[in-house]
Amino acid sequence: MFTNCPIKLEHFFTATRNTDLATFHPALHQALAQHYEQSSHGRTTQWNHVLELLPKLDNSHYCFDQNSISVTTLAKIDLDSFKYNLKALTPWRKGPWNLLGVRIDSEWQSDWKWRRLQLHITPLQGRRVLDVGTGNGYFLYRMLGDGATSALGIDPNRLFLYQFQAIQNLLPANNAHMLPLCSEHLPPFNYFDSVFSLGVLYHRRAPLNHISELLSFLRPGGELVLETLVVPGTDDTILIPGDRYASMANVWFLPSPIALENMLRRLGLVNVRIVDINQTQICEQRSTEWMPFHSLPQFLHPDNKNMTSEGYPAPRRAIAIGIKPG
Ligand SMILES: C[S@@+](CC[C@H](N)C(=O)[O-])C[C@H]1O[C@@H](n2cnc3c(N)ncnc32)[C@H](O)[C@@H]1O
Repeated sequence: MFTNCPIKLEHFFTATRNTDLATFHPALHQALAQHYEQSSHGRTTQWNHVLELLPKLDNSHYCFDQNSISVTTLAKIDLDSFKYNLKALTPWRKGPWNLLGVRIDSEWQSDWKWRRLQLHITPLQGRRVLDVGTGNGYFLYRMLGDGATSALGIDPNRLFLYQFQAIQNLLPANNAHMLPLCSEHLPPFNYFDSVFSLGVLYHRRAPLNHISELLSFLRPGGELVLETLVVPGTDDTILIPGDRYASMANVWFLPSPIALENMLRRLGLVNVRIVDINQTQICEQRSTEWMPFHSLPQFLHPDNKNMTSEGYPAPRRAIAIGIKPG
Protein backbone atom coordinates (compact mmCIF):
# COMPACT_ATOMS: atom_id res chain seq x y z
CA MET A 1 0.00 0.00 0.00
CA PHE A 2 1.42 3.40 -1.10
CA THR A 3 4.94 2.07 -1.43
CA ASN A 4 6.37 5.42 -2.59
CA CYS A 5 5.29 7.22 0.59
CA PRO A 6 7.95 7.66 3.31
CA ILE A 7 5.24 7.64 5.98
CA LYS A 8 4.13 4.25 7.24
CA LEU A 9 0.48 4.92 6.40
CA GLU A 10 -0.59 1.44 7.48
CA HIS A 11 0.14 2.47 11.11
CA PHE A 12 -2.58 5.14 10.91
CA PHE A 13 -5.08 2.76 9.35
CA THR A 14 -4.34 0.06 11.93
CA ALA A 15 -4.48 2.47 14.86
CA THR A 16 -7.90 3.80 13.80
CA ARG A 17 -9.58 0.61 12.56
CA ASN A 18 -11.70 0.30 15.73
CA THR A 19 -12.69 3.96 15.87
CA ASP A 20 -15.36 5.99 14.08
CA LEU A 21 -12.61 7.08 11.66
CA ALA A 22 -12.73 3.57 10.13
CA THR A 23 -15.90 4.62 8.26
CA PHE A 24 -13.69 7.05 6.35
CA HIS A 25 -10.88 4.65 5.48
CA PRO A 26 -12.17 3.99 1.93
CA ALA A 27 -12.48 7.76 1.30
CA LEU A 28 -8.95 8.34 2.64
CA HIS A 29 -7.51 5.54 0.49
CA GLN A 30 -9.17 7.10 -2.52
CA ALA A 31 -7.87 10.59 -1.65
CA LEU A 32 -4.33 9.24 -1.18
CA ALA A 33 -4.49 7.39 -4.49
CA GLN A 34 -5.76 10.48 -6.28
CA HIS A 35 -3.73 13.26 -4.64
CA TYR A 36 -0.55 11.57 -3.43
CA GLU A 37 0.15 8.62 -5.70
CA GLN A 38 -0.42 10.58 -8.87
CA SER A 39 2.09 13.33 -8.20
CA SER A 40 5.80 13.09 -7.51
CA HIS A 41 8.74 15.23 -6.41
CA GLY A 42 12.12 15.50 -8.14
CA ARG A 43 14.07 14.86 -4.93
CA THR A 44 12.20 11.71 -3.88
CA THR A 45 15.08 9.36 -4.69
CA GLN A 46 17.57 11.50 -2.77
CA TRP A 47 15.29 11.81 0.28
CA ASN A 48 14.50 8.07 0.25
CA HIS A 49 18.23 7.40 0.33
CA VAL A 50 18.72 9.81 3.27
CA LEU A 51 15.90 8.14 5.20
CA GLU A 52 17.61 4.79 4.68
CA LEU A 53 20.85 6.19 6.14
CA LEU A 54 19.20 7.72 9.23
CA PRO A 55 18.92 5.51 12.33
CA LYS A 56 15.84 3.53 13.30
CA LEU A 57 15.46 3.06 17.05
CA ASP A 58 12.81 1.57 19.27
CA ASN A 59 14.39 2.00 22.69
CA SER A 60 14.82 5.77 22.81
CA HIS A 61 13.48 8.15 25.45
CA TYR A 62 11.66 11.28 24.52
CA CYS A 63 10.34 14.46 26.01
CA PHE A 64 7.45 16.12 24.17
CA ASP A 65 6.47 18.70 26.76
CA GLN A 66 9.58 20.85 26.74
CA ASN A 67 10.17 23.67 24.25
CA SER A 68 12.66 21.68 22.23
CA ILE A 69 11.35 18.23 21.42
CA SER A 70 14.09 15.94 22.52
CA VAL A 71 14.94 12.31 21.89
CA THR A 72 17.76 10.47 23.61
CA THR A 73 19.15 6.94 23.34
CA LEU A 74 21.82 4.78 24.89
CA ALA A 75 22.51 3.25 21.46
CA LYS A 76 25.85 4.19 19.87
CA ILE A 77 25.22 6.65 17.04
CA ASP A 78 27.79 8.30 14.77
CA LEU A 79 26.69 11.87 15.49
CA ASP A 80 28.64 13.44 12.63
CA SER A 81 26.98 11.34 9.97
CA PHE A 82 23.61 11.62 11.77
CA LYS A 83 23.86 15.41 11.62
CA TYR A 84 25.06 15.31 8.01
CA ASN A 85 22.08 13.20 6.95
CA LEU A 86 19.59 15.34 8.88
CA LYS A 87 21.06 18.36 7.08
CA ALA A 88 20.26 16.67 3.77
CA LEU A 89 16.59 17.21 4.72
CA THR A 90 17.11 20.99 4.97
CA PRO A 91 15.28 23.39 5.19
CA TRP A 92 14.04 22.64 8.72
CA ARG A 93 11.41 25.33 9.16
CA LYS A 94 9.62 24.14 12.32
CA GLY A 95 11.21 23.15 15.61
CA PRO A 96 13.45 23.30 17.62
CA TRP A 97 14.47 19.67 18.02
CA ASN A 98 17.15 17.99 20.05
CA LEU A 99 17.64 14.64 18.36
CA LEU A 100 20.14 12.32 20.06
CA GLY A 101 22.24 15.36 20.98
CA VAL A 102 21.99 17.11 17.61
CA ARG A 103 20.21 20.42 18.10
CA ILE A 104 18.15 21.51 15.11
CA ASP A 105 17.74 25.26 15.36
CA SER A 106 14.86 25.61 12.91
CA GLU A 107 13.86 28.81 11.09
CA TRP A 108 10.88 29.21 13.44
CA GLN A 109 10.93 29.04 17.20
CA SER A 110 7.65 27.12 17.02
CA ASP A 111 7.59 26.69 20.79
CA TRP A 112 6.80 30.43 21.06
CA LYS A 113 3.60 29.90 19.07
CA TRP A 114 2.71 26.91 21.23
CA ARG A 115 3.21 28.93 24.40
CA ARG A 116 0.98 31.72 23.05
CA LEU A 117 -1.95 29.38 22.50
CA GLN A 118 -1.37 26.73 25.17
CA LEU A 119 -2.95 28.70 28.02
CA HIS A 120 -6.10 29.56 26.07
CA ILE A 121 -7.16 26.26 24.53
CA THR A 122 -9.21 23.56 26.22
CA PRO A 123 -6.57 21.33 27.87
CA LEU A 124 -5.68 18.51 25.49
CA GLN A 125 -5.69 15.73 28.08
CA GLY A 126 -7.62 12.78 26.63
CA ARG A 127 -8.54 14.60 23.40
CA ARG A 128 -8.32 13.41 19.79
CA VAL A 129 -6.61 16.11 17.82
CA LEU A 130 -6.27 17.01 14.13
CA ASP A 131 -3.55 19.46 13.03
CA VAL A 132 -4.22 20.77 9.51
CA GLY A 133 -1.04 21.98 7.77
CA THR A 134 1.14 20.34 10.40
CA GLY A 135 4.47 20.94 8.60
CA ASN A 136 6.97 18.38 9.88
CA GLY A 137 4.74 17.52 12.84
CA TYR A 138 6.42 19.59 15.57
CA PHE A 139 3.05 20.50 17.09
CA LEU A 140 1.79 16.89 16.96
CA TYR A 141 4.42 16.00 19.55
CA ARG A 142 3.61 19.07 21.64
CA MET A 143 -0.07 17.96 21.59
CA LEU A 144 0.84 14.44 22.73
CA GLY A 145 3.13 16.01 25.35
CA ASP A 146 0.10 17.91 26.66
CA GLY A 147 -1.91 14.71 27.02
CA ALA A 148 -3.76 14.28 23.69
CA THR A 149 -4.66 10.61 23.12
CA SER A 150 -3.91 10.86 19.41
CA ALA A 151 -2.61 13.56 17.10
CA LEU A 152 -3.20 13.32 13.36
CA GLY A 153 -1.45 15.83 11.10
CA ILE A 154 -2.06 16.46 7.44
CA ASP A 155 0.27 18.30 5.10
CA PRO A 156 0.91 18.01 1.36
CA ASN A 157 4.56 19.16 1.52
CA ARG A 158 6.85 16.27 0.51
CA LEU A 159 9.97 17.33 2.39
CA PHE A 160 8.03 17.67 5.66
CA LEU A 161 6.84 14.06 5.32
CA TYR A 162 10.47 12.94 5.25
CA GLN A 163 11.37 15.06 8.27
CA PHE A 164 8.41 13.59 10.19
CA GLN A 165 9.32 10.03 9.25
CA ALA A 166 13.00 10.61 10.13
CA ILE A 167 11.84 11.60 13.63
CA GLN A 168 9.30 8.78 13.91
CA ASN A 169 12.11 6.34 13.07
CA LEU A 170 13.89 7.47 16.27
CA LEU A 171 10.86 6.97 18.50
CA PRO A 172 9.02 4.02 20.01
CA ALA A 173 5.52 3.50 18.53
CA ASN A 174 3.35 6.50 19.40
CA ASN A 175 0.04 8.11 18.53
CA ALA A 176 1.33 10.81 16.17
CA HIS A 177 0.27 10.15 12.58
CA MET A 178 0.53 12.08 9.36
CA LEU A 179 -1.34 11.88 6.07
CA PRO A 180 0.08 13.58 2.96
CA LEU A 181 -3.16 15.33 2.05
CA CYS A 182 -4.72 18.80 1.94
CA SER A 183 -7.72 19.67 4.08
CA GLU A 184 -9.91 19.96 0.99
CA HIS A 185 -9.17 16.28 0.26
CA LEU A 186 -10.51 15.05 3.60
CA PRO A 187 -14.02 13.75 4.29
CA PRO A 188 -16.23 15.43 6.94
CA PHE A 189 -15.06 13.36 9.93
CA ASN A 190 -17.29 15.01 12.58
CA TYR A 191 -14.93 13.30 15.00
CA PHE A 192 -12.06 15.34 16.47
CA ASP A 193 -12.25 17.03 19.88
CA SER A 194 -9.80 19.76 18.81
CA VAL A 195 -8.86 20.89 15.32
CA PHE A 196 -5.89 23.19 14.76
CA SER A 197 -5.19 25.22 11.64
CA LEU A 198 -2.04 27.23 12.30
CA GLY A 199 -0.65 29.36 9.51
CA VAL A 200 -2.80 27.88 6.73
CA LEU A 201 -5.82 30.17 6.16
CA TYR A 202 -3.87 32.86 4.29
CA HIS A 203 -2.56 30.26 1.84
CA ARG A 204 -6.09 29.37 0.80
CA ARG A 205 -7.81 31.09 -2.12
CA ALA A 206 -11.18 30.24 -0.58
CA PRO A 207 -10.65 31.02 3.12
CA LEU A 208 -14.32 30.62 4.06
CA ASN A 209 -14.31 27.14 2.54
CA HIS A 210 -11.25 26.31 4.63
CA ILE A 211 -13.09 27.24 7.83
CA SER A 212 -16.13 25.18 6.74
CA GLU A 213 -13.85 22.18 6.16
CA LEU A 214 -12.32 22.60 9.63
CA LEU A 215 -15.81 22.69 11.16
CA SER A 216 -16.72 19.47 9.38
CA PHE A 217 -13.77 17.67 11.01
CA LEU A 218 -14.89 18.59 14.56
CA ARG A 219 -17.38 16.64 16.63
CA PRO A 220 -20.27 18.74 17.95
CA GLY A 221 -18.91 20.63 20.96
CA GLY A 222 -15.34 20.36 19.65
CA GLU A 223 -12.91 23.28 19.60
CA LEU A 224 -11.33 25.01 16.61
CA VAL A 225 -7.99 26.76 17.13
CA LEU A 226 -7.14 28.92 14.14
CA GLU A 227 -4.01 31.01 13.78
CA THR A 228 -3.51 33.26 10.80
CA LEU A 229 -1.95 36.47 9.54
CA VAL A 230 -4.10 39.53 10.20
CA VAL A 231 -3.83 43.25 9.43
CA PRO A 232 -4.82 46.17 11.63
CA GLY A 233 -8.32 47.46 10.90
CA THR A 234 -12.03 47.15 11.47
CA ASP A 235 -14.74 44.79 10.26
CA ASP A 236 -14.49 46.17 6.74
CA THR A 237 -10.71 45.54 6.43
CA ILE A 238 -9.29 42.64 4.43
CA LEU A 239 -5.95 42.81 2.61
CA ILE A 240 -5.55 40.92 -0.65
CA PRO A 241 -1.91 41.57 -1.62
CA GLY A 242 -1.35 42.80 -5.18
CA ASP A 243 1.38 40.23 -5.61
CA ARG A 244 3.73 39.02 -2.88
CA TYR A 245 3.32 39.54 0.85
CA ALA A 246 6.52 39.43 2.92
CA SER A 247 8.10 37.81 -0.17
CA MET A 248 5.57 34.96 -0.12
CA ALA A 249 3.83 34.37 -3.46
CA ASN A 250 1.01 32.27 -2.05
CA VAL A 251 -0.67 34.69 0.37
CA TRP A 252 -4.24 35.49 -0.61
CA PHE A 253 -6.24 36.89 2.24
CA LEU A 254 -5.44 38.80 5.45
CA PRO A 255 -8.48 39.89 7.48
CA SER A 256 -8.50 42.27 10.43
CA PRO A 257 -8.98 40.45 13.76
CA ILE A 258 -12.63 41.55 13.93
CA ALA A 259 -13.26 40.44 10.33
CA LEU A 260 -11.73 37.06 11.25
CA GLU A 261 -14.05 36.76 14.25
CA ASN A 262 -17.01 37.62 12.03
CA MET A 263 -16.04 34.94 9.52
CA LEU A 264 -15.97 32.29 12.24
CA ARG A 265 -19.30 33.41 13.71
CA ARG A 266 -21.03 33.66 10.33
CA LEU A 267 -19.96 30.07 9.60
CA GLY A 268 -21.62 28.84 12.78
CA LEU A 269 -18.95 28.73 15.48
CA VAL A 270 -19.95 29.90 18.94
CA ASN A 271 -17.99 31.37 21.84
CA VAL A 272 -15.59 32.87 19.29
CA ARG A 273 -12.74 34.94 20.67
CA ILE A 274 -9.35 36.23 19.60
CA VAL A 275 -6.99 35.21 22.39
CA ASP A 276 -3.71 36.59 21.07
CA ILE A 277 -2.34 39.03 18.50
CA ASN A 278 1.38 39.11 18.01
CA GLN A 279 3.69 40.87 15.55
CA THR A 280 6.38 38.39 14.56
CA GLN A 281 9.84 39.43 15.70
CA ILE A 282 13.04 38.63 13.87
CA CYS A 283 14.24 36.54 16.80
CA GLU A 284 11.26 34.17 16.23
CA GLN A 285 11.65 33.68 12.46
CA ARG A 286 15.17 33.89 11.02
CA SER A 287 17.78 32.06 8.93
CA THR A 288 19.82 29.46 10.78
CA GLU A 289 22.32 26.75 10.01
CA TRP A 290 19.28 24.49 9.37
CA MET A 291 17.39 26.97 7.17
CA PRO A 292 20.05 28.94 5.32
CA PHE A 293 17.73 30.88 2.98
CA HIS A 294 16.19 34.34 3.39
CA SER A 295 13.81 34.76 6.31
CA LEU A 296 11.86 37.49 8.12
CA PRO A 297 14.75 40.02 8.43
CA GLN A 298 15.01 40.10 4.62
CA PHE A 299 11.21 40.14 4.17
CA LEU A 300 10.79 43.40 6.12
CA HIS A 301 11.28 46.90 4.77
CA PRO A 302 14.94 47.95 5.19
CA ASP A 303 13.94 51.31 6.71
CA ASN A 304 10.82 50.34 8.67
CA LYS A 305 10.51 47.04 10.52
CA ASN A 306 6.76 47.59 10.86
CA MET A 307 6.33 47.14 7.11
CA THR A 308 7.00 44.28 4.72
CA SER A 309 9.45 44.84 1.87
CA GLU A 310 6.35 45.45 -0.32
CA GLY A 311 5.06 48.20 2.00
CA TYR A 312 2.25 46.22 3.69
CA PRO A 313 1.83 46.01 7.49
CA ALA A 314 4.50 43.65 8.89
CA PRO A 315 3.36 40.08 9.68
CA ARG A 316 1.20 39.84 12.76
CA ARG A 317 -0.69 36.74 13.73
CA ALA A 318 -3.96 36.27 15.56
CA ILE A 319 -5.11 33.15 17.38
CA ALA A 320 -8.88 32.65 17.23
CA ILE A 321 -10.78 29.98 19.16
CA GLY A 322 -14.38 28.87 18.67
CA ILE A 323 -16.66 25.95 19.43
CA LYS A 324 -18.75 23.90 17.04
CA PRO A 325 -22.29 23.97 18.42
CA GLY A 326 -23.43 20.69 20.05
C1 LIG B 1 3.07 28.42 7.17
S1 LIG B 1 3.12 26.69 7.29
C2 LIG B 1 2.51 26.45 8.95
C3 LIG B 1 3.03 25.18 9.58
C4 LIG B 1 2.59 24.99 11.03
N1 LIG B 1 1.17 24.71 11.12
C5 LIG B 1 2.94 26.18 11.85
O1 LIG B 1 2.03 26.89 12.29
O2 LIG B 1 4.12 26.43 12.08
C6 LIG B 1 1.72 26.21 6.31
C7 LIG B 1 1.63 24.70 6.12
O3 LIG B 1 0.33 24.40 5.60
C8 LIG B 1 0.49 23.45 4.56
N2 LIG B 1 -0.68 23.62 3.69
C9 LIG B 1 -0.86 24.55 2.72
N3 LIG B 1 -2.09 24.39 2.17
C10 LIG B 1 -2.69 23.36 2.83
C11 LIG B 1 -3.96 22.72 2.71
N4 LIG B 1 -4.83 23.11 1.81
N5 LIG B 1 -4.23 21.69 3.55
C12 LIG B 1 -3.32 21.29 4.47
N6 LIG B 1 -2.10 21.87 4.62
C13 LIG B 1 -1.80 22.88 3.80
C14 LIG B 1 1.83 23.78 3.92
O4 LIG B 1 2.37 22.67 3.23
C15 LIG B 1 2.65 24.18 5.13
O5 LIG B 1 3.34 23.09 5.71
